[in-house]
Amino acid sequence: MKLQGKHILLGISGSIAAYKAAFLVRLLVKEGAEVQVIMTPASKEFITPVTMCALSGKPVASEFFVANDGTWHSHVDMGLWADLLLVAPATASTIAKMATGVCDNLLITTVLSAKCPVMVAPAMDLDMYRYPANQKNLQTLKSYGQIILEPGEGELASGLSGKGRMQEPEEIISKVISFFSSPKKLYNKSFLVTAGPTYEKIDPVRYIGNRSSGKMGFAIAQSLAEEGASVTLVSGPVNLEISHPFIKIIKVESAREMEAECLKIFPDTDGAVMCAAVFDFRVENISEKRKIKRTSDGFSLSLIPNDDIASRLGSIKTENQLLVGFALETDHEMENAKEKLNKKNLDFIVLNSLTDKGACFGFDTNKISVLSDNGSIINYPLKDKKEVAKDIVALITERLKSKV
Ligand code: CTP
Repeated sequence: MKLQGKHILLGISGSIAAYKAAFLVRLLVKEGAEVQVIMTPASKEFITPVTMCALSGKPVASEFFVANDGTWHSHVDMGLWADLLLVAPATASTIAKMATGVCDNLLITTVLSAKCPVMVAPAMDLDMYRYPANQKNLQTLKSYGQIILEPGEGELASGLSGKGRMQEPEEIISKVISFFSSPKKLYNKSFLVTAGPTYEKIDPVRYIGNRSSGKMGFAIAQSLAEEGASVTLVSGPVNLEISHPFIKIIKVESAREMEAECLKIFPDTDGAVMCAAVFDFRVENISEKRKIKRTSDGFSLSLIPNDDIASRLGSIKTENQLLVGFALETDHEMENAKEKLNKKNLDFIVLNSLTDKGACFGFDTNKISVLSDNGSIINYPLKDKKEVAKDIVALITERLKSKV
């Protein structure tokens, strides 16, 4: 029982995902939590207070007053009682009211009175989710320190498919448990991490690639997630597995596929860490279907440049976002790294040298120097990549404090 004795207020608003709130209460109670359910008037169209009362073992709070005896549901007392206020599902309307403080129901008054952390699990149609006002309201809630449990992508109740599905009760529970298990510095933050090599196709069986193992990028994704951040890891072909409730992995092959994913994901994040060893060129004339046959003549490939993904993200980075790049150099290391830092509009560049023993491709260890856009340089000793990842995440955490 990982939530023994925790007081959790569960706010339910009027979305079809309200039916998932029943499972959520069951899971919370099973983990030992005491749950007080607050329902908005609209939510009662989707699931009944009787169901929620039976599952939580407490009468549901919904109106400011109980009509027949005048009992007052004190939002102030509930707000003080709670260790966590979880709004799941949170509709666009509830999110808007939470952002602007429109207190026209008991749930919103409780949000405004609560002294405890607030978690919000949005649930809505993809276009509603994307709507600029909704995005702005979510940003506002984040700026209040509230934790947004980003909705997933998939089939929606409307029959459309896209981003807007409330996270599954099991996912929400694992976030609640991990929230209580240790204070995390990057809760409420989200990151994009790129990792591994890219493969550029020559024909159906051949490609050009490089020897990047992906270990550094995977270690950074893991370390960010362990600090509570939501991470989307876009990885080229590697022999690594990762499993963490806060990490979503997207597998790609070519630089162009990686670029397309990064451009989609980056705008919704607090930052990106570009660990991938992106192949700078691709084959001009790919033989898509036919394997290229051996001939007695030589064979040459024409290569054309790929975009620099880090630079493209650097050009759209907002002042609240952070961008970290890596540099792999064999000569004039510091000068080259500084140039890349400026050219790509990075906050930090992590320099690793191929000349350092035990560092870089394929090794479990790495030796880095981190150059910052403010001119500082930190040199670290040779360490396990997991430890190196923690050093980088510590720098990111510190820098993000000045970004909000
Ligand atoms: N990078 C990228 N897209 C590319 C090339 C590089 O996003 N097409 C990113 C890498 O992930 C890394 C940083 O840019 O964070 C620097 O990569 P590196 O290969 O060292 O530098 P390049 O800019 O490609 O320069 P060069 O290969 O000429 O040293």
